[in-house]
This record gives sequence, structure tokens and C-alpha cells, in this order.
Amino acid sequence: MRKIAAGNWKMNGTAEDLDEIRKLIAAHPKPRCEMLICPPATLLSRLADVAAGSALMVGGQDCHPRLSGAHTGDISAQMLRDAGATHVILGHSERRQDHRETDAMIRAKLETALDQKLVAILCVGETLAEREAGKTLAVVGEQIRAGLQNLSYTIDSLIIAYEPVWAIGSGLTPTLEEIAEVHAFLRQTIRSGPLSSNGSGAGVALLYGGSVKPSNADAIFALPDVNGALVGGASLRASDFGAIVQSLSASCPDPTMP
Ligand code: PGA
Repeated sequence: MRKIAAGNWKMNGTAEDLDEIRKLIAAHPKPRCEMLICPPATLLSRLADVAAGSALMVGGQDCHPRLSGAHTGDISAQMLRDAGATHVILGHSERRQDHRETDAMIRAKLETALDQKLVAILCVGETLAEREAGKTLAVVGEQIRAGLQNLSYTIDSLIIAYEPVWAIGSGLTPTLEEIAEVHAFLRQTIRSGPLSSNGSGAGVALLYGGSVKPSNADAIFALPDVNGALVGGASLRASDFGAIVQSLSASCPDPTMP
């Protein structure tokens, strides 16, 4: 099972922050896990230049469902690839909230991203009100169903990130039991039935996101069906993100051991 430490810089970062990327690459030349940073679009190609030849992969934070056209301010999957991205985050709760993205829009973006050979990171998660009403599994189940039903994907082209909306940027996290419960449900949902593409649901990486930091990473990565993290705030500094990469790497098998 692949494991991925993915950083989401959101609307943060200018050219001077590329130094953090240089530090990250120097400190982690050969991590055992995959390592990805999704910077703002303005930094994509410069970050891709800095990352060239290293273990660091680069991704976008969103893409438009169409490949080109009259869509002021939007970015297409083709443009992300052209700028050096291999991955794209789709359906992040900040996009769902700030830009009123619906499950149907996210589904259209997923199709385009996969078509353009980008690895899609589909984000799902409940609000605090939904959790308190006991609706967590129903909400993420519906987001997954709407996103993936009859979609053709492989274990290499799709990643799912469980991000409780109330845990993002808040310093709050669900309990380990709550994270494990949702991840087991996600695994079960994509392993079976119409959401399994070519039987590959069992191998799709499931990331946890929401206030992941060096101090809680070990415990989260020890949970079954947690195959990495999508990290916001703590991905901005090489030292913090590097510690999370280190923590995830420690949970991967040593390739030099027989
Ligand atoms: P956070 O953000 O790590 O700052 O909570 C996570 C995310 O939104 O992907």
C-alpha cells in the first residue's frame, strides 16, 4: 500500500517560500513514503523546477472541468500538467464552502483530472453540526458515492482524503477511534459494489486531514486504513512537514530489508 504525505499550501506562499522546499528536499532526499506539495497556482512551475529530479511531487489545489475556454480566473487540468503538476486536490471543503462547489461539479472535475492523467485527491468530510447529529458516515458516504459511482479509476490515479471540516485549521482533531471508524467505512465503501473500479478499491490510499502536526502524526499513522495525511498549516514549514514525512516513512517497510 502506498503512503503519501501531501501538503496543501492553500492561499499561502510567494517566491521566498521556495526556500522551505529546498530545505525539505535536502532533509528528505529518499523518503519511504510519497511526498507531495500543492502550492498556489502562481508557484506551481517554479516549485516544479525546484523539485525536478527530487522525490518531491507537485500538485494543484483545484481544476476546472473544462480544458480551456472563457472561464476567467480558473485553471484547467491541462494547465496544471503543463506547469509540472502530477496531482490535483478536488472537492476540498474550502472550495465546497467558498465557491459553492457541489458534488456534481466535483465529479465533473474528477473525470477531467483523471482523463488528463492527473492523480486526483478527492476530499470528503462532515461539518461539526453533521457530526453532532450523528450523520458523519452518511455525509461522507454520499460524497464518495457522488464522486466515484461508475468512475473509472485505478489505485494509482485516485487518493481519498477524509477531512472533517471542523478539524481543518482549528487545532481540533477527532479521536483516534473516530478517525479509524471513518477510514474503515471508506475502505469498505470503495472496496465493494459499484464504487470499486476494477476491484481496485482495496488499494486506494486513504489520507486523514485536519490539524495534522508532528505531535499527533505517529498516532494517526498507526491507525488501520490510514495511508498518509493531507496537511495544511503544518506543510508551510519544512521542519514541521519534514517531521510528518519522517513519521509516515517510519510506518513504511524498509525496502533494504529482505
Ligand atoms: P490543516 O488543513 O492541516 O491546516 O488543518 C488541512 C487541509 O485543509 O487540508
